This record gives sequence, structure tokens and C-alpha cells, in this order.
Amino acid sequence: MGDEEKKVLVTRAMPKGGLDPLTAAGCQVTQRLDDVAYTHAELVELAPNFDGMVCLLTDKIDTDVLEAGARGRLRVVANAAVGYDNIDVERAERLGVVICNTPGVLDETTADLAFLLILAAARLASDAERDLREGKWAGWGISDHLGRDVHGRVLGLIGYGRIAREVARRAEGFGMEVLHHTRRPTGFPGFVETLDELLSTSDAVSIHVPLTDTTSKMISKRELALMKPTAVLINTSRGPVLDEEALCDALDGGSIFAAGLDVYESEPAVNPRLIASRRTVLLPHIGSATIETRTKMVRLASLGVVEVLSGRTPENVVTPR
Ligand code: GLV
Repeated sequence: MGDEEKKVLVTRAMPKGGLDPLTAAGCQVTQRLDDVAYTHAELVELAPNFDGMVCLLTDKIDTDVLEAGARGRLRVVANAAVGYDNIDVERAERLGVVICNTPGVLDETTADLAFLLILAAARLASDAERDLREGKWAGWGISDHLGRDVHGRVLGLIGYGRIAREVARRAEGFGMEVLHHTRRPTGFPGFVETLDELLSTSDAVSIHVPLTDTTSKMISKRELALMKPTAVLINTSRGPVLDEEALCDALDGGSIFAAGLDVYESEPAVNPRLIASRRTVLLPHIGSATIETRTKMVRLASLGVVEVLSGRTPENVVTPR
């Protein structure tokens, strides 16, 4: 890694062992341990003093941070997440700052959570549990808490990357037929050419696209209106892909059956209408949140930093979309 000791900023407390690659490579690690996010101004001030940074999706690595960093010694930023819409990758490339993410290590864990939401939304699990917790359960009722079956139904995947394919694998085990739609034909069975067709034929729709200018609000009023009134909508990708107000209208108006969400338009704020709805299952962005997976993510991000600072190009480098 060169003779000079490399300095790496880690923006938060991280799962145990995740940063081992940095210490093993002899990096001097400065870590925020109080688990409070750095402000934007703090990141701008700190960035130039470090060769590398391991950050979270809640850290906004924008032009200001990158320019300040590049004026100093910053060469690499590794996001401990697979999504990297919090980073201005285009600007980073122009400034010569390498950006890494954590693909591959969270696919199964995130697919598990997407499937949890498919099942929980179809069975209105949160509503049923709420009744129990609030002491409103009067005993077994033949017509109480009636959800929808998932077996024998069609799952429509929007996007067909690694996570979506893991969701597909799970769905087959649950007796579902699986379709998918992407902008370009995948060549795989189940490909549906238009989003509209996918939406109108699926009983469960699960979103698996990154947040970009093209995918922002891709599921809005028009798209929701195409879904079956018996269908459920799941989002474990990024909140702004979905128009939350339009979703609330669709839920309140009964034009879809239920929704399962792990991500929100303005995290950590959650639309009060979603919270009030009896037809939502809402989780606080925990798609990859297992001890094993989060540790692997931080290790992969740390390895990316070590590789770049050693003059190599790791596989987890991202380029502008
Ligand atoms: C989590 O949302 C991630 O992108 O890893």
C-alpha cells in the first residue's frame, strides 16, 4: 500500500470484524463511534484529510464532499450498501475519486426480507398482530383477518438483478409463477416486455431497481391503477421509486389490496397515511440487516478501500449509470 500510512475515515460504528481488512492492511482508522451521523459540513471538513472513506447510504457524498476530498488526499469512498444513489458517482469519476459498493453479499438476505413482506402484506400480518397487541383479539373468527393466498399466484418482479433473482427462487418454492420486466430483454423465461403488462397480470409486484433519474416515481398513480385490486405491492429498493401519496390513494381507495414497504421517500420520515393504513406492512429499511450480512458488507467496503489504496481496481467499483 505504499510507505506512507493510509488514513481512512469510517463514518459510523460498524459491525464487529467488518473493518478488519483496513487494520490488517495497516490503515490508520478514524471512526465515529457514537453512532451519530456526521453533518454535511463535517464531512466536507473531514474529507480532504483522509485517503479513503467507508460510509453509509445515509451519508450524502455530494459535489461539496467530493471536491473538498479531491483537493486533499481522498482517493476512494466505499459505501457499505449496494445502492449508491447517495453518492454523486459522475462527479467522483471526474475528480478521480473511486467509488465502491457491496454487491453480491446481501442478495439472499434482502430477498428473504422481500419475501417476508410479500407474505406479510398478502396475509395482512401487521394488522392482525396490531389487533392482538392492542387486546382487540376476541378469539378465532372465521371471517377475521382474511388475507390473500400467494401460492398459485403470479409474482411480478420489476428489475431482474441479483436480488430479484433470489426473490424469484424463493417464490418458486412457494408455488408462485414468476414474471419479470426490465428495460432490456433478459432472455430468461418469464420476461414480460412492458411494465404495464407486468403490473396488470401480477398478484404480487416487487420492486428491485436502483434509484436513478429514470426510475424515480416509476410507480405512480397510472401504474398503480393498472394493478389488480387483489394485488400487493412490495418495495425493498429505494423509496422514491414509488409515489407514496399515489400509493396511499390506491390503498385507501381499494384499487390494490395491500403494500409491504422497507424503504420510504423521505427516510426516516414515514408518510402518516401509510402508518394509519390497515393494509400496510412497514419495516424501517432493514433489507440487509442481519449480523452476518452487515458484517460481510462492511468487510467488502473495507476491502474496496484497501484495494484502491494499494493501486488495484477491485470488482466492486461503480461507474456512473
Ligand atoms: C441497502 O438499502 C443497500 O443498498 O445496501
